Amino acid sequence: MTAILTNLRNAVIAGFVLAIVLVVLYATVWGGSFDDNYWRFLVRWTHVIAGIMWIGHLYYFNFTQIPTMPKIPDELKPAIGKFIAPEALFWFRWGAMVTMAAGLILAMMNGYFVEAMTLGLARPATEGQICIGIGMWLGLIMWFNVWFIIWPNQQKALNIADKHPNLDKDAKAKHARTAMLFSRTNTVLSVPMLFAMVAAQGLFNIS
Ligand code: HEM
Repeated sequence: MTAILTNLRNAVIAGFVLAIVLVVLYATVWGGSFDDNYWRFLVRWTHVIAGIMWIGHLYYFNFTQIPTMPKIPDELKPAIGKFIAPEALFWFRWGAMVTMAAGLILAMMNGYFVEAMTLGLARPATEGQICIGIGMWLGLIMWFNVWFIIWPNQQKALNIADKHPNLDKDAKAKHARTAMLFSRTNTVLSVPMLFAMVAAQGLFNIS
């Protein structure tokens, strides 16, 4: 047991093995079949796990790292900037990418991609489709912020992979502030985004 828990890769594998037990239950005791609905569910599950990876890191930055940074003694700060933040940013941005891709695929599999993305303006849409469309647009804005504003600014602020070695302290602080403001913006948007995502099923029974 400790061999599993002390190794992250083994722990993640253990989680998936337990999920496979549920798949076996589904296919046997519960009499489920591997039809279109099952594959759609699998993409939805991937979407939510990746979403947790993304928003989990967003909340870590906003609720833990940023507020604690001023309290950390100067000589210890590099541990965060050089080691923890780059690693967190890796899972953060790739979590965002997988969430976005799975989310768009889901909307296509559900057959309401155009209705949702155009918020019912191009084709008549149900309230649930407009609701998920609002969530999808908020999620896409957040994804854009991650990849095209937060990540490039953090690369400069932290000189990740030594790609920006010549920036002075002021320039780095400016990039760190831009990254922080957009990260905060995403924290704000995450609340209505998740409302719309979950309400589409919960309040409107969209699919
Ligand atoms: C670019 C960003 C995103 C897009 C395009 C997107 C798209 C979608 C779509 C189309 C659905 C409907 C799935 C269905 O009912 O079959 C959905 C549901 C959902 N999404 Fe997202 N999403 C995005 C971001 C996120 C994020 C960041 C999270 C955070 C965890 C998230 C969590 C959820 C949840 C919990 C559901 C509800 C699943 C259910 O009710 O079964 N989404 N999303």
